[in-house]
Formats: sequence, structure tokens, C-alpha cells
Amino acid sequence: MSKHNAEAPIMAIREVSKSYGGVHAVRDVTLDIDSTKITALIGPNGAGKTTLFNLISGFGTPYSGTITFGDTDLTGLSPHRVAKAGIVRTFQTPVGFSSMTVAENVAVAIAGQGLANPWSPFLRWREDKHTHVDALDAARDQLALAGIEDLADTAISDLSPGSAKLVEITRQLSMGPKMLLLDEPAAAMAVDQIKTLSELIRGIIADGVGVLVIDHNLGFVLDLADMVHVLEFGAVVASGTPTEIGRNERVREIYLGGVEESDAA
Ligand SMILES: Nc1ncnc2c1ncn2[C@@H]1O[C@H](COP(=O)(O)OP(=O)(O)OP(=O)(O)O)[C@@H](O)[C@H]1O
Ligand SMILES: [Mg+2]
Repeated sequence: MSKHNAEAPIMAIREVSKSYGGVHAVRDVTLDIDSTKITALIGPNGAGKTTLFNLISGFGTPYSGTITFGDTDLTGLSPHRVAKAGIVRTFQTPVGFSSMTVAENVAVAIAGQGLANPWSPFLRWREDKHTHVDALDAARDQLALAGIEDLADTAISDLSPGSAKLVEITRQLSMGPKMLLLDEPAAAMAVDQIKTLSELIRGIIADGVGVLVIDHNLGFVLDLADMVHVLEFGAVVASGTPTEIGRNERVREIYLGGVEESDAA
């Protein structure tokens, strides 16, 4: 469980909305995300979870509302600026330089810290051989902290989907964020990987880095999170502790009802 820290920034999402054509993907969402609490965002497919992540991380601008983190107004900033403010995110499908090994991939992120051009880490990696040794050492340390040092010399393209997610999280962490947004990290993970993931996330929050996680695996989410928010049709329909959410009538309808109707597809 995380320690209380009065200095820890709050992400304040205020009356944020976004639509695509006629689809109201996110409707008037107001949430406080406390960076000392593991916070989960759940809800059915198409509920607007990823859209909200996109709005926070600069991949899209809300048509109304504001998003601030501590004293920083994130609303409408580019992804690069949001990352500079300390908010980094992973994608539902991991991205990376597939021809590199895991350690090289993380080392590129470490070597690129503080650079102005978001593409320059890769260019610098190719040109400046002197950064390699230090960054690779740091990358191996980071992988060990995440409990996946055994993957260091594997090519990114050879990773299982679950391992790729763990590597992606480690890569983002190596950039020293203040808050990490994880979009379905447990998807495609085996049971032992989910355990590694849960331990990793508990370690992240204990280090004072905020975690906002989207996932469909309710067992994983309810076991891990301190606070859970439920989205349905773009709106927040419930917020509470895992115990409260597990008992919530609407949540039970969405999840248990959904399984029966869709034949667990
Ligand atoms: N770029 C886009 N263009 C058009 N419609 C979009 C776009 N992105 C999302 N939508 C629509 O917005 C709604 C919310 O989608 P979103 O991807 O945010 O849901 P989600 O909760 O992440 O779902 P899932 O659990 O399946 O990942 C859906 O109806 C989706 O079709
Ligand atoms: Mg999504």
C-alpha cells in the first residue's frame, strides 16, 4: 500500500469530453487521480478508456474541459510536452525498435532522456557509440528492477506479447516519469507474467510514481488497485475501492450480465 505524500501531484480531469463524428467517446468526465494510489479504469469495450488516455497524453485534444497535473495544464499539449511534464503511457499494442535487443531498446530510451527532438534518441544511438556502454548498463539495472533481466538479450521481435508489454513498461519507466498510464498491460499475459506485472506496479507506486491502469482482467485490477473508476458509454458510472466496485450493482450488470449475454466471447 502506498504512503501518503502531501507533495504528490494530483491529476485533475475536469468536465472533459471528446467525440468522433457522432460518437461521444468521452462525456463530461471529472476525476481526480491521486498519484500515491494505484488507480484503475475499467469498463466495457468502446467505453472510452483509451480515448481518455489519449486526451491525457496529448494524442488528441478534448473539445471541452481541462486536464492538469499538479500545477501543469496538460490540456492540448503535444505528446512530447506531456511526456516532458512527467506523464508517460503505454499503448494497447506495444511499440519499439524491433531489430534491437530488449536491453538496447531500453538503453535508447535512457540515452535519449532530456533531448529536445523526440526522434533523436534513435539517431543519437546510431551515431554516438560512446553513450552505448553506460546506457546499456543502466538498461540492465532497470530490467533487473522490473524482474525481467532474463529478457535482456532477446530481440524485441522475438518477445511473446506478454513479455513485450513488460519490456514496454520498463522502457517507459527508464524515462523517470511522475505518472505512468498503462493501457491493458495484462492482456495476452500468462499468470506468472501478471504476477510479475503486479509486483512491478506495486514497486512503481512505492517509488512515488503514479499509476493509472486500464484492464479488462477484473481479478488483476481488483487485486491491485487502491481506487477504481468505471466508464460506460464515455461517462463515469462508478468510483470506489475494489471492494465497493466488486459489490456495485451497475458494475455487476456490466460484467456478469455481459458475460451471459455475449456467451463469454
Ligand atoms: N480515432 C477514432 N475515430 C473514430 N472513433 C473512435 C476513434 N477512437 C475511438 N473511437 C470510438 O470511441 C469510442 C471509445 O473508444 P475507446 O477506444 O476509447 O474505448 P475503450 O474503452 O478503450 O475500448 P476497449 O476496451 O475495446 O479498448 C468507441 O465507440 C470507438 O469506436
Ligand atoms: Mg482501449
